[in-house]
Amino acid sequence: MTVEQKLFADPAELAAVFAADFAAWVEPQKKRVITVALSGGSTPKLLFELWAKDYADKIDWSRIHFFWGDERCVPPSHRDSNYGVAKELFFDKIVVDAANVHRVLGESDPDKECSRYENEIAEHVEINGDSIPQFDMVILGMGDDGHTASIFPYQSKFLNSERICEVATHPETGQKRITLTGPVLNQAKKVAFLITGANKSDILAQVIHKTGEFANFPASYIEPENLCFYLDQGAASKL
Ligand code: 6PG
Repeated sequence: MTVEQKLFADPAELAAVFAADFAAWVEPQKKRVITVALSGGSTPKLLFELWAKDYADKIDWSRIHFFWGDERCVPPSHRDSNYGVAKELFFDKIVVDAANVHRVLGESDPDKECSRYENEIAEHVEINGDSIPQFDMVILGMGDDGHTASIFPYQSKFLNSERICEVATHPETGQKRITLTGPVLNQAKKVAFLITGANKSDILAQVIHKTGEFANFPASYIEPENLCFYLDQGAASKL
């Protein structure tokens, strides 16, 4: 396992470097189809805007199949929809085949959609020797409670689920979400953790240094073969 940290002055600089790193990562890939799981949250919004503005014709988007690491169980038009945000900021602004965009049907029944999405992933994502889908890249964030994707501390059992996806419930709002599970996140060939904000600095230090209450934070259990933390100075201020 390789772990790298990249530090940036602010989220805008983080997004700019990640976008350039992503383009450099896509280019030499031998595979025709590259599978990427997107994250929700605020930092990816900057990335989507950059992809649309500066990378529309710098990346062969026809090679990328987009999935979500987690999605809120709301319609695409809902302000909480991770797909809805990506559509508005990115997919509506570039030419990409609809067949390359594998959204979670947030408007559907969560349990039924969880099973349907598992099948969609199994159909389009390489399955490794352990019968686990292996994404080429998973982009993740971390919440200020140490959650990642939609694996929350009180539902850390999803870190060891035998399923591809699970139906999660937000601890405060009760909002249902579909999330990739720990084994799928950790099978990814590459994970990019985009983490910003001083409100996460204390938990991030525990996660990275495996100190304090790190064992309570799902983000501590993301250990793929290749992990890169993209951090702004606020999030990294206690490392
Ligand atoms: C979601 C995300 C979630 C997010 C973190 C960090 O759907 O909310 O997938 O895991 O990455 O909550 O969010 P910010 O980037 O907004 O801090």
